[in-house]
Amino acid sequence: MNPPLARLAVLISGNGSNLQAVIDACNAQTLPARVVVVVSNKPDAYGLKRATLAGIPTEVLVKKKEQDRSGYDKELAQLVLNYQPDWVLLAGWMRLLTASFLDIFPNRVVNLHPALPGAFPGTHAIERAYQAYQQGLIEETGVMVHLVPDEQVDCGPVLGIEHVPILATDTLESLETRIHQAEHNLLVRTLVQLIQPTTF
Ligand code: GRF
Repeated sequence: MNPPLARLAVLISGNGSNLQAVIDACNAQTLPARVVVVVSNKPDAYGLKRATLAGIPTEVLVKKKEQDRSGYDKELAQLVLNYQPDWVLLAGWMRLLTASFLDIFPNRVVNLHPALPGAFPGTHAIERAYQAYQQGLIEETGVMVHLVPDEQVDCGPVLGIEHVPILATDTLESLETRIHQAEHNLLVRTLVQLIQPTTF
């Protein structure tokens, strides 16, 4: 008998193309998992539509003015806990999480970042890599998937990386397109290994 499908909670803030890659892999049964909830901090995130189309429950949690980061994260953790996830996946989640959230899911929070480990943490990573290439500082960039043990930004035990060369003919847009393709592939590949390292 097959083991039960891993339960994924996916946190998003925007387009959700990585969420879509995960949904597609679940549906194709290449990933032995099920997205049990999609949570957004933005009510207008397109990824919410993708989730609804796929029949996945959605939650929107906007930070209230009177809340501090820790207060928001406690509420978020409670919300996510209700869905009993095995893994919490940050797929374009644009808020830094505090220990109030992370300590509830030790070794269970996975982040995707559009740069190689240690390079360009934070926002606009692809743009900054493209500029660094123009200045002759780098020849390639990449994407990574890592665990999020603490409040450091885009940092933690690396689960997978994919190198993406930067081409002399690249525009920022063409580089972005290749980076996103690499992310979609790497994310699914890494989740497959993480969820069933030996038998799947
Ligand atoms: C991705 O590049 C991800 O690495 C970054 O935000 C982007 C989200 O893209 N943190 P999408 O919402 O999955 O399309």
